[in-house]
Amino acid sequence: MMQEELQERINSSKAQICVVGLGQVGLPVALSFCNVGFVVRGLDVDKDHIELLKNGKSPFEEPILEEMLIKSRKEERFFPTLDQNAIAESDVIIVCVPTPISKEIKPDLSLLKNACDTISRFELKNKLIVIESSIPPKTFESMILPSLSGDKTTNIFASYVPERLSPGQAFEEINTTPRVIGARDQKSRDVTYDLYKKIIKADIFKTSPIVAETCKLVENTFRDVNIALANEIAMICERYDIDVLEIQKICNSHPRVNLLTPGPGVGGPCLPKDPYLLLNPQDSEQIDSKIISNARKINDYMPSHVFHLIENTLKEQNKEIKNSTITILGTAYKGNVSDTRYSPSEKIASLLLETCSNVKINDPHSKISFGAKYEENISKAIKNSDVVVILTDHDEYKNINLQEMKKDMNDDPILIDTRRIFDKEIAENVGFTYVSIGYNNKGIKNNYSLLK
Ligand SMILES: NC(=O)c1ccc[n+]([C@@H]2O[C@H](COP(=O)([O-])OP(=O)(O)OC[C@H]3O[C@@H](n4cnc5c(N)ncnc54)[C@H](O)[C@@H]3O)[C@@H](O)[C@H]2O)c1
Repeated sequence: MMQEELQERINSSKAQICVVGLGQVGLPVALSFCNVGFVVRGLDVDKDHIELLKNGKSPFEEPILEEMLIKSRKEERFFPTLDQNAIAESDVIIVCVPTPISKEIKPDLSLLKNACDTISRFELKNKLIVIESSIPPKTFESMILPSLSGDKTTNIFASYVPERLSPGQAFEEINTTPRVIGARDQKSRDVTYDLYKKIIKADIFKTSPIVAETCKLVENTFRDVNIALANEIAMICERYDIDVLEIQKICNSHPRVNLLTPGPGVGGPCLPKDPYLLLNPQDSEQIDSKIISNARKINDYMPSHVFHLIENTLKEQNKEIKNSTITILGTAYKGNVSDTRYSPSEKIASLLLETCSNVKINDPHSKISFGAKYEENISKAIKNSDVVVILTDHDEYKNINLQEMKKDMNDDPILIDTRRIFDKEIAENVGFTYVSIGYNNKGIKNNYSLLK
């Protein structure tokens, strides 16, 4: 099949697609292509995951995912499978496997390499291979293309198309966010463009693989650095006993300022690791960057800051962490999702558990407990606690009645509201000691001294 033939099959939605890796990215991508009429095979290595999908059950929370899944299964457009022959049977292969960092904080591309090695065992002539996983600069040219089929790569179409979706808005963002295609050559660029314009109603930039690789990582590094700035300014505001949100509101009325909102740390599948991918190009030495590295350190420090706020607030009441009952509300890294990867809650729970044996944890979207006592019911989780720490801004927590919560908790209750979902005055009037990040916490000591 020549380029024109493949393009014709894509344009008429007759091309068969195989999505490799059906996670937070791969599954919405696969179902987005089903939704515009393609038949998609979804290849994964996780047996339980495939079983769930075959039964029309979503393995994680994502709006409209389950109904898209059920619809695609009913219309016989989506075929989850463990069978690698799905690669041979498809015209287009889209790779969405994880690219985490190792314990040594280096890119771990072993899962991606495995996936490429598997793909390379099949005849790929005139097929289109797209990589969507986030990868360090130069990976596409120096690892992906050689591992796909060595010197036979002249016969395949190949592109790097980084995914930009955010969990919780996956389908909408696939549809409406501009994308970038980094293609190995003009023919690959044309074929890839025809494929993606089927699901994207926004600009599609065409460039080289290394520019596409770098753009993806720069976007997430930009956010990470700006969140670190907001977090550091928040801790400075604590020293001045002023409210960072008031600072944010006034400063952001300036036309060229956009201070982000501080929080208990940065989690999720992308921001905590993509800055490290940016600084570790494939097959080259690590690049040194003060601002990016320090931003990572500041954001990684925030769970310790929350821990010190809890400890110091208890001290003000002449209480100790080890004798207190502490409830964490929220294990997911952001509101209204179930994903707990790199969540700041994990570090905060582990710091508390070092000294306190009474740590309860709740999350209406996830059953992960990080070693604490999981409590499914929010009221039960709160009951008889000295401290409630809100770490995730789930809607369920915004609906908590403070009067009821006060009644359920022990005397002199402490509310550590790291997401600012309650109003300080209202909480104090109800009888809470209210503490937050970047706030006038009435002399609660702030231990921050990272850059000394
Ligand atoms: N999650 C996000 O919000 C997001 C956004 C943009 C980009 N990304 C990037 O997309 C990539 C995928 O991330 P994710 O969050 O979807 O990961 P994930 O962990 O949710 O899912 C990955 C899936 O790949 C499967 N898998 C692993 N190795 C495989 C193999 N050899 N063959 C077939 N399946 C395999 C796993 O079983 C899992 O189901 C990463 O590079 C990530 O950085 C993620």
